[in-house]
Amino acid sequence: LSVLSVASEAFPLVKTGGLADVVGALPDALAPHGVATTTMIPGYPAIGKAIKGAKVVRRWPRLLGAEARLLRARIGDHPLLVLDAPALFARPGGLYGAEDDWRRFAALSRAAADIAGDYDVLHAHDWQAAMAPAYLRYGSGAARRPASVMTVHNIAFQGHFDAAVFAELDLPAAAYAIDGVEYYGGVGFLKAGLEAADAITTVSPTYAAEIREGRFGMGLEGLIESRRGSVHGIVNGIDPAIWNPDRDAALPSRYSARALGRRKTNKRAIEKTFGLEAGGGPLFTVISRLTWQKGMDVLVTCLDELVAGGGRLALLGSGDAHLEAAFLAAAARHPGRIAVRIGYDEPLSHLLQGGADAILIPSRFEPCGLTQLYGLAYGCVPIVARTGGLADTVIDANQAALAAGVATGFQHGETNYHTLAHAIARAIAAYARPDLWCTLQRNGMRADFSWSESGRRYADLYHSLTGTA
Ligand code: ADP
Ligand code: GLC
Repeated sequence: LSVLSVASEAFPLVKTGGLADVVGALPDALAPHGVATTTMIPGYPAIGKAIKGAKVVRRWPRLLGAEARLLRARIGDHPLLVLDAPALFARPGGLYGAEDDWRRFAALSRAAADIAGDYDVLHAHDWQAAMAPAYLRYGSGAARRPASVMTVHNIAFQGHFDAAVFAELDLPAAAYAIDGVEYYGGVGFLKAGLEAADAITTVSPTYAAEIREGRFGMGLEGLIESRRGSVHGIVNGIDPAIWNPDRDAALPSRYSARALGRRKTNKRAIEKTFGLEAGGGPLFTVISRLTWQKGMDVLVTCLDELVAGGGRLALLGSGDAHLEAAFLAAAARHPGRIAVRIGYDEPLSHLLQGGADAILIPSRFEPCGLTQLYGLAYGCVPIVARTGGLADTVIDANQAALAAGVATGFQHGETNYHTLAHAIARAIAAYARPDLWCTLQRNGMRADFSWSESGRRYADLYHSLTGTA
């Protein structure tokens, strides 16, 4: 069974968040289940090297107005298609946020739909690829129509544009309808994909249930509810070739669940890198976009207490300017106890997971979340909000879980000062009991966060859609 997986990011070529990790990991995750995956991404400048000498397999003189070519290269052991359209993608700066994003990602989707007939399944990720199922539906794509899957990695990002762009999308007039691409008087890319795809998935069972409600559905809850029979929650796994403390080149000291003492060297390296003083209490970390979604504004209000309890914090992240400033101010208030690195640094994120004691993830909503999974794999105990994928992957250290010997971290209710401060206090108290802490670490490291079960679930879904089960 062959799948065309279309997205705006794929690790290791281009990444701004978890979407890239998942799209990059899927081909290996699906291969054991007899699924051959071809990944398709835009030709951003950053991937220039990867496509040196790549073969041109298709040309469009005018793809939504832009000249474009499709290049065939490789990502890991798998085929990669790159949409080379310099007028759309050969630009410096961030991947998103341009005025013509609608044209850039409609072009990606249109190109995917045009070639999708060569595959059994078209799998679109997030709003940037969401118009692909819509193009298939309105017939302007492939001769043979493949099955289509729309995966929602974050329903907060929807690709909502002015109605005026519709005329340039190269769709029949009938597509501008309530059950088509029209959305609150404009054009909704994700909405169009959710209407058109044969199946919808999202990245955890809890998030699949949450987005049927107004609080999480961000306006699309009615549509999700109406398609509930076709909505599947499949939790993300992690790529063991990239996230394995026993083989991680970014760690000064590699280790396994049997040799946790070796994490100390990594902790010292963090203290040195961040200018933190050595201390008896737990070293917390944050590796995150600094945004409202991630609950970072609430974390800021808990920092004085975290330090008063004997904790320290090493934070790596970037995002909203007022949050960056608030964390920098906290670091200035607590020199040696709180240190902040504003930026994006992949190797440093591995070091933090491999040396810090606990990772804080107080998200207001979290479709899946990957940093808690990396934390589990690395013995960096996750402290998470009980929402979305965080609820599905971390087992709270309550009495029952401790008695059963299965606890892996700490959960708190809806993020606010009280719930988060309480969770931090629980972690500080648990850290003072080395045996208990070590059990949490080992339980996490031995948990199954691989792709094996989720890879099988995607494969089963593809088979059921194509009648090849
Ligand atoms: P989201 O995609 O919503 O940001 P995830 O937890 O799914 O959240 O994925 C975030 C990914 O980005 C993880 O791989 C995480 O390690 C990485 N990441 C986030 N911020 C940084 C940063 N400042 N530096 C390095 N990696 C980061
Ligand atoms: C999105 C979500 C995150 C999820 C990731 C990969 O970025 O915010 O929760 O882990 O996609 O599916």
